[in-house]
Amino acid sequence: MHQTVNVDLAERSYDVEIGPDLLAQAGVRIKPMLHRPRVAVLTDETVAGLHLDALRSGLASAGVEMTALALPAGEATKSWPHFERAVEWLLAEKIERRDIVVAFGGGVIGDLGGFAAAVLRRGVRFVQIPTSLLAQVDSSVGGKTGINAPQGKNLIGAFHQPSLVLADTSVLGTLTARDFLAGYGEVVKYGLLGDADFFEWLERNGPALSAGDMATRVQAVTRSVQMKADIVARDETEQGDRALLNLGHTFCHALEAATGYSDRLLHGEGVAIGCALAFELSARLGLCSQEDPSRVRAHLKAMGMKTDLSDIPGDLPGAEDLVDLMAQDKKVVDGQLRFILARGIGQAFVTSDVPRDAVLSVLQDALATC
Ligand SMILES: NC(=O)c1ccc[n+]([C@@H]2O[C@H](COP(=O)([O-])OP(=O)(O)OC[C@H]3O[C@@H](n4cnc5c(N)ncnc54)[C@H](O)[C@@H]3O)[C@@H](O)[C@H]2O)c1
Repeated sequence: MHQTVNVDLAERSYDVEIGPDLLAQAGVRIKPMLHRPRVAVLTDETVAGLHLDALRSGLASAGVEMTALALPAGEATKSWPHFERAVEWLLAEKIERRDIVVAFGGGVIGDLGGFAAAVLRRGVRFVQIPTSLLAQVDSSVGGKTGINAPQGKNLIGAFHQPSLVLADTSVLGTLTARDFLAGYGEVVKYGLLGDADFFEWLERNGPALSAGDMATRVQAVTRSVQMKADIVARDETEQGDRALLNLGHTFCHALEAATGYSDRLLHGEGVAIGCALAFELSARLGLCSQEDPSRVRAHLKAMGMKTDLSDIPGDLPGAEDLVDLMAQDKKVVDGQLRFILARGIGQAFVTSDVPRDAVLSVLQDALATC
């Protein structure tokens, strides 16, 4: 059931290994990269409680020792104080230039751990062992690392590619249903942006995947990683095509800012709602058929996901304020809002040519149902 996807980036190329029970093989897979049999693991307290022993024994079975630092779970950890603690801990553990840092957790640990590896001694190698669905299909691949600033999300960081990614699909079994579905929002995004057949496959297999069917999980993670790897190989530092991966994100970032990056809306939930809105906007601009947004929403609803603005608990600002929040996104270029729109399911494209009034009217109508 194991799959390997290669991320083809010349001398920075690496493999993403996907399948059940990979933690048990962590030592065998990582050992050939080590110059001494010891790694430093950054993780969060939740993942540590559930899976750190399994990682330790997987490493030990190949004679690799580990030392670990568990940071608090949650987005607030992606900040200077925890970053400083992580880097100073790595120095105190005498992690050297040729050693390997392991980021073992969801996207928060992957982003923070990758950034710590990027700056430690001007850059050490790191291995991603992503444990959330979101991290397995998205954040662990592609080399974007970083932390949040008081001014906004992901504003401090570096491109630093991992040397290996081990996506153990067995560990997904301990995710809360909410965190699992938030990650599924990113899986759906891949079908919507570039692979109509994959979206159709998800419509048929999403329920089994959500219920825990391992073969389906491996297949969904593999297809998602393959799509991300292809896009990243074409455009590593997001000069063009990589922006396609931001389908749904312009809306999502405004909604995350409006809800204070709190538990009211998880990132993947915002992506799902944002994809539905991006298709609605595309249909109104006459780019895709009217049926496409309905089909997107129907699948999200069938999976029990947040789909509409009314699914976000609490009050939201008005449409004008949401558009203003979009304008603060770091992906705004020369003050122009950039959107990923679609000519149909699986046919996304990047454009700055979107009338503000069209965005406003989509949001006004979406807010009217709240
Ligand atoms: N670098 C990138 O390209 C990229 C892409 C997308 C998102 N991100 C970032 O990823 C972050 C979101 O990632 P996330 O959703 O994984 O968040 P997260 O790391 O906070 O994980 C979500 C929750 O799930 C828990 N968890 C993780 N694995 C678990 C497991 N196997 N069992 C039980 N609980 C588990 C965590 O402790 C946490 O409470 C955001 O900070 C976002 O900016 C980065």
